[in-house]
Amino acid sequence: MRNATLMTVLGACALLAACGKGGETGKTAEAPVAAPSSDAALPEPTAEEKKALLASLPAPYNTGDLENGKAKFAMCRSCHTIVQGGANLTGPNLYGIFGRKAGSVADYKYSDAVKAAGFTWDAEHLDKWLAQPRDFLPGTKMTFAGLKAEKDRVDLIAFLKVETGYKAP
Ligand code: HEC
Repeated sequence: MRNATLMTVLGACALLAACGKGGETGKTAEAPVAAPSSDAALPEPTAEEKKALLASLPAPYNTGDLENGKAKFAMCRSCHTIVQGGANLTGPNLYGIFGRKAGSVADYKYSDAVKAAGFTWDAEHLDKWLAQPRDFLPGTKMTFAGLKAEKDRVDLIAFLKVETGYKAP
């Protein structure tokens, strides 16, 4: 009789322990999944989504030629990455450039000219910058001569909007 009681108690303990353990495991398994998901990489937009985003841009960018923009970006690629979390090369990573304060990538060492610029990047600022960086922000260390043809700048800016996580305001 005494032994039977003990067995029951032990049995209940074992069950509870198993339940408790199961619950704990469930919790700890959830936490790491939930925490990083808030700043995890956004999924790369599909070709359809890129097309829709392009069409939603204000003129003239809505008619930008993404293929030409991509071709022009070849001139920037040696110094800039555009993917989320991409490395800083000679120039800073450009993901999220639209709506980003000039000179604000934390682990990149800008010139005083860009650090002091004080504006937020939008298509208008980017257009002037890309036409003639060293005239637009004298003292910049971006040694890029400039993209003279307006249409090329429109196409490149449209391409950057579609590729760098731009969200319509
Ligand atoms: C030879 C290397 C080089 C090339 C080519 C180049 N860049 Fe840059 N870029 C830089 C450097 C260096 C900086 C930082 C400038 C500074 O701090 O003065 C910069 C800064 C920028 C910034 C400002 C970023 C910020 O966080 O404020 C933008 C936007 C930019 N570049 C876009 C472009 C685009 C678009 C092209 C292609 C048309 C291009 N760059 C070509 C080196 C380059």
